[in-house]
Amino acid sequence: MKTLDELARWAASPPPAEADFPAALAELRAALAAYPQRDFWMSRKAGVFTHLNEHWLKPAPPARKPAIGQALNQLKAEAEGVFAGQEAQAARAAVTRRLAAERVDVTLPGVSALAAPSHPVLQVRDEIVQIFLHLGYTVADGPEIETAYYNFEALNIPFGHPAREEQDTLYLGPGLDDYLLRTHTSPVQIRTMERQAPPLRIIVPGKVYRRDAPDASHSPNFHQIEGLAVDCGLHFGDLKGTLDHFAREFFGPSVRTRLRPSYFQFTEPSAELDVSCIFCGGAGCRTCKHSGWIEVLGCGMVDPAVFGFVNYDPEAVTGFAFGMGVERMAMIRYDVDDLQRFYSGDLRFLEQFR
Ligand code: PHE
Repeated sequence: MKTLDELARWAASPPPAEADFPAALAELRAALAAYPQRDFWMSRKAGVFTHLNEHWLKPAPPARKPAIGQALNQLKAEAEGVFAGQEAQAARAAVTRRLAAERVDVTLPGVSALAAPSHPVLQVRDEIVQIFLHLGYTVADGPEIETAYYNFEALNIPFGHPAREEQDTLYLGPGLDDYLLRTHTSPVQIRTMERQAPPLRIIVPGKVYRRDAPDASHSPNFHQIEGLAVDCGLHFGDLKGTLDHFAREFFGPSVRTRLRPSYFQFTEPSAELDVSCIFCGGAGCRTCKHSGWIEVLGCGMVDPAVFGFVNYDPEAVTGFAFGMGVERMAMIRYDVDDLQRFYSGDLRFLEQFR
């Protein structure tokens, strides 16, 4: 058998005599089986078939050309078949190798993913909203970026009032001077009354923002829930009855409530709701600072001046409103002493609320 070099040189020399041609073909065929390298045979520039074409076929006398041409074509077709088979086999082998490398042991125990518990603040938010949905309230919302008009003006908080001063409010700044991050959910009272005629019962869960440094009882961003009811003949007793019901649903049937006089610009009269301490039952403990009571939320009858901003007739309708901090409710319910725990992302803390 010729070496590769010899074979290449042989193909690039004049063709064998007609009598030797069948033997030459047989030798080529045997060499193809012995050296099945595609490039060596098929390369356009210097492959054996290119040589054979140039040196065996082209210079052959016209009488021999058809026979040589046919024989070489036949051999070339065979070579194509060899290489195609070779490639298919290589592809199959590659797949087999990959499957072996990627073998998965389905009997190995899995690694369980950690499913995040829903956040206690959001759990409490949803629970409170649910209590009011059962009373026939509907959920309303509004933008977190507000104008001074909705956040203050229409809530009867005049220009120059301390609540408006920059130490409390986050303004959007130069060029957006009239825009601020709402400091409470109360602007949604105004937005809803502008759109909707009385009677009205809405509950408004939402985020609020204040310019406060974070500490155990402050955060620049927290959650509130606002309530508003407007109808003919609503009175303070309706407000108290509603909040009593809410307190018992949220804190338990034995909780007692009291309303203390307070002041908000958009309610008159205004009050603060206290509940009997759920930890000591009112006897006095660390959580209630030995007073027996815990302050829960602010509320009051809608100030007629507010109705003036939304074109409600204060002679025809009355209303009550209340607003509470969701984190505060969660702190009371679960006796959490530091507001920042809710924002820490500490799973040891959060897992307890699964
Ligand atoms: N918006 C008030 C606050 O953020 C709470 C409040 C709401 C008071 C509705 C009365 C009525 O402090």
